[in-house]
Amino acid sequence: MVNVDPMPDHRPLLQMQGIVKQFPGARALDGVDLEILPGEVHCLLGQNGAGKSTLIKILAGAHQPDEGQILLDGAPVVITHPVAALTLGVATMYQELDVVDGLTVTENIFLGHELATAGFSQRRAATRRTRELLARLGHPDISPHKEVGRLSAAGKQIVSMARALSYDARIIIMDEPSAVLDSEEVANLFRVVRELARDGVAVVYISHRLDEIRQIGDRITVLKDGRAVAQNLDVAQTPTPDLIRLMTGRSVDQVFPDRLPVAPEAEVLLRVTGLGLKGTFHDVSFEVRAGEVLGLAGLVGSGRSEILETVYGARTATSGTVEVAGRRTRRGSVKSAVDSGVGLCPEERKSQGLLLDEPIYRNITLSAFARFASAGFLDESAERRAAQQQVEALDIRPHDVDRTVRTLSGGNQQKAVLSRWLVHGCRVLLLDEPTRGVDVGARAEIYSLIRALAAAGTAVVVVSSEIDEVLGMSDRVLVISEGQVVFTSPAESIDEHQVLALVMEGSAA
Ligand SMILES: Nc1ncnc2c1ncn2[C@@H]1O[C@H](COP(=O)(O)OP(=O)(O)OP(=O)(O)O)[C@@H](O)[C@H]1O
Ligand SMILES: [Mg+2]
Repeated sequence: MVNVDPMPDHRPLLQMQGIVKQFPGARALDGVDLEILPGEVHCLLGQNGAGKSTLIKILAGAHQPDEGQILLDGAPVVITHPVAALTLGVATMYQELDVVDGLTVTENIFLGHELATAGFSQRRAATRRTRELLARLGHPDISPHKEVGRLSAAGKQIVSMARALSYDARIIIMDEPSAVLDSEEVANLFRVVRELARDGVAVVYISHRLDEIRQIGDRITVLKDGRAVAQNLDVAQTPTPDLIRLMTGRSVDQVFPDRLPVAPEAEVLLRVTGLGLKGTFHDVSFEVRAGEVLGLAGLVGSGRSEILETVYGARTATSGTVEVAGRRTRRGSVKSAVDSGVGLCPEERKSQGLLLDEPIYRNITLSAFARFASAGFLDESAERRAAQQQVEALDIRPHDVDRTVRTLSGGNQQKAVLSRWLVHGCRVLLLDEPTRGVDVGARAEIYSLIRALAAAGTAVVVVSSEIDEVLGMSDRVLVISEGQVVFTSPAESIDEHQVLALVMEGSAA
């Protein structure tokens, strides 16, 4: 926790007053106030769709408010454009990573700094500055010359952070920065946030992970359905259950659903033997039985996601085999994996998961097309019904299957990706970060859905950066470090600290 000691007469750095934002069909903000002090970490909490991203996009100049005003140092300002925000000293890291894949790390960081017209010496300076920023973020390993498209989601997030830092802003907005980061990287991020706060920079921090809010936050504003239901709460004085009640209007049982014993004679639905992907992971072997949830724990970059993608055939294994219910799937063939009943809910929803301009129901029923197609026609009403069920089960808001996915909040988009695989009815379900960006209420629902799928005989493999989540959701855990399985254990007989020690040890070796 950052200890700022605001002087009694300390003037707010920034005030947003009575902000209203109406989208077609959704009043995202209905008169919201926000007050930010210099040097504080101000947390913005609220369920998926509460209006958090909309509020900070207004501050960032990406949206215009319909009503309300913004005061900076007590004087009204109009932020007509993202560049105007930067000029006023407001830098933003968006929830939807907005780095440009085709450009290098340095080019991304200095995109707004007119590097295009810069001469050689300026480019050299930019590269040097990029190195400094990456080192500050604990990532001297990322090359300034690397094409951003070749980085992992976490790598992209780090570039986005470096870019926000490059502006020497007075206010830095971070919209769910930790969603793609592992524990080590979150620790790096927090160290930087504390340094910023010490220098008087205000950080607006959005996260669904309440333990993070406790660690890093000073004050909290809670949004619910486009209104601020609590303002400037002192983090230290506000117990977590109170926060949950403010956000959801109810108390949420955060406990993971009970595990059901996996019968030793249950069929092995997924058998991975000596699987390798050159340069990424090697000699990975495991089995998952019907009814079992296997968790893969490890740092970002440990090879977790690549293992899932290789099992799914999206990457071509360089060694080893994958068998589904006793039958080998073809290397590097998604079709072969899907035909045998394997589904993958990917980590990066924006690029891999969703058709942003299609309605919710299409996105949900996408991979199950065969089931809804009869004699070459899609049975739209069956599609809709199946989607409607999922929308309600996962509480995808709004409960309107005709809404375009682009207009959903980040967490609701994530739920749409997940529900597609639930409709699909896979025998083997691979889930990469299934609760990323999802609020506390919906998380509990996702946990019990995954349990219900397992109980119905699905073999589930789940990757999560949150170690407590991997342990809580899984029957068995594999710890992955540097592309190798370093430990296997029933989830009940290992705790968070042991897993952390294992992943760190492995990565230090
Ligand atoms: N471009 C848009 N068009 C229509 N509606 C939108 C648009 N952007 C957001 N909305 C709606 O505004 C509301 C608030 O969305 P917002 O993205 O601000 O939520 P959030 O609090 O950031 O949620 P999350 O935790 O899921 O990221 C939601 O109902 C969303 O569907
Ligand atoms: Mg959001």
